[in-house]
Amino acid sequence: MQKPNIIEARKRSKAEVSIDYFKIDESLLELGKNKKYYIKTYGCQMNEHDTENIKAILEKMSYKETSDMDEADLILLNTCAIRENAHNKVFGFLGRIKHLKSVKKGIVAGICGCMAQEEHVVNEILEKYKWLNIVFGTHNINNLPKILKEATEEEKQKIEVFSVEGSIIENMPAKRYYKYKAWVNIMYGCDKFCTYCIVPYTRGKQRSRKKEDIINEVKDLVKEGYLEVTLLGQNVNAYGKDLKESYKMENLLEEVALTGIKRVRFVTSHPWDFTDSMIEVIKKYPNIMPYIHLPLQSGSDNVLKLMNRRYTVASYLELVNKLRENIPNLSLTTDIIVGFPGETEENFNETLNVVNKCKYDSAFTFIFSKRVGTPAYDMKDDITVKEKEERLYKLNNLINKYALENNLKYKDKIVPVLIENFSDKGEDTYMGYTDTMKLVNVKSDKNIIGRIVNVKITDVKTFSMDGEIVV
Ligand code: SAH
Ligand code: SF4
Ligand code: F3S
Repeated sequence: MQKPNIIEARKRSKAEVSIDYFKIDESLLELGKNKKYYIKTYGCQMNEHDTENIKAILEKMSYKETSDMDEADLILLNTCAIRENAHNKVFGFLGRIKHLKSVKKGIVAGICGCMAQEEHVVNEILEKYKWLNIVFGTHNINNLPKILKEATEEEKQKIEVFSVEGSIIENMPAKRYYKYKAWVNIMYGCDKFCTYCIVPYTRGKQRSRKKEDIINEVKDLVKEGYLEVTLLGQNVNAYGKDLKESYKMENLLEEVALTGIKRVRFVTSHPWDFTDSMIEVIKKYPNIMPYIHLPLQSGSDNVLKLMNRRYTVASYLELVNKLRENIPNLSLTTDIIVGFPGETEENFNETLNVVNKCKYDSAFTFIFSKRVGTPAYDMKDDITVKEKEERLYKLNNLINKYALENNLKYKDKIVPVLIENFSDKGEDTYMGYTDTMKLVNVKSDKNIIGRIVNVKITDVKTFSMDGEIVV
């Protein structure tokens, strides 16, 4: 058994990160023959992409996917630890799995992802969820075949969670969820240690992939017919800072744009590492989308300091101005936390002020959630739940007001939309996203899935738009 340890997870070694290549022992290729797997994913795009890797690994082992948990022989929950409600959802769902296991013998059930990296979660599993067969961490995905073999053969709980990251694993297979857009990891982990955040503990130190590996992956995607890539990382702007070369995010963005892929996106940008040269590259290449997710977290310098965010409101606003000046038609989104320990009414109003200045296209807004092992866990939190909820409500109203205002500017305009699928809004209706990441439902009498089409916007709402194809 290999349990996680929060003290180990906090450490950052200077050792250079090695690269390993995914391989699977031939003897395991048929372990899942005639068996089905069901996997449920919580959390961010990084977790979604991990699930794509896990699915492909399982399918290499001959398992087949099912979307019906009741008929699965293997059930996995790929979990998220970012807030308490993500945690509660998983423990709630375990009840259903326990029931299934009691009526159907032989089911193998497990959890993986960020919750598996939390020491207290694994302790709880050891104590109260002895029936769970496997627990494996974010650094152990490549070992899944071996873990599964042992769990099926030995019929005892198998826990493998490394607290400290190992090598970067290249060649990981992926069963991609979308046909036309793909996620590409450019880095793993995070070294920023914002005081509220669990990610640096669950994902390890920042490790950038080698540029060749990233570019080759994108080139392969282009060959396979993908139209869009989203470069993924907790702080994509810090790409390369942990490597010896002087090759940084602006160089990578440029090289990815030059592969000819139709659309390039990247998340998440930390305001601290956003350089002028990055802005120059975004400006230069029309296939880098005018869409930036720039988490603010708080509009108060006091709170930003307590959060260890490493920027001030003034420097954030200066960056937003620069982005707006240089990137025409920019769509700007953000993340904001309310009710951080010590956030006064005045501090909260400062956040509203920044929202009034930035006029975001949309935002993810959250009430602060205490995470075990993070510095903010011990900070004095004397804001009532009611007060936090009222702040969130006020903030959301303001965010929605600007979302609608921004969308109204699209009325009667013609915009490019990458059509992903049918829409549930009626017959002959398709859905897709504009270059600025606006969800559009499009009427068309011919099948336009997998194309970037020009759409005239006919109606606008807060969270989506309707349009007609222009021929
Ligand atoms: N790397 C990204 C954020 C990843 S987590 C960045 O630095 O911007 C996504 C969002 O979850 C964060 O931006 C933050 O707004 C929110 N979040 C993270 N930890 C949280 C916590 N403990 N309580 C509430 N929200 C949190
Ligand atoms: Fe968390 Fe901060 Fe790292 Fe983002 S930058 S993942 S919020 S520690
Ligand atoms: Fe959640 Fe882990 Fe992502 S905590 S937000 S799944 S990195």
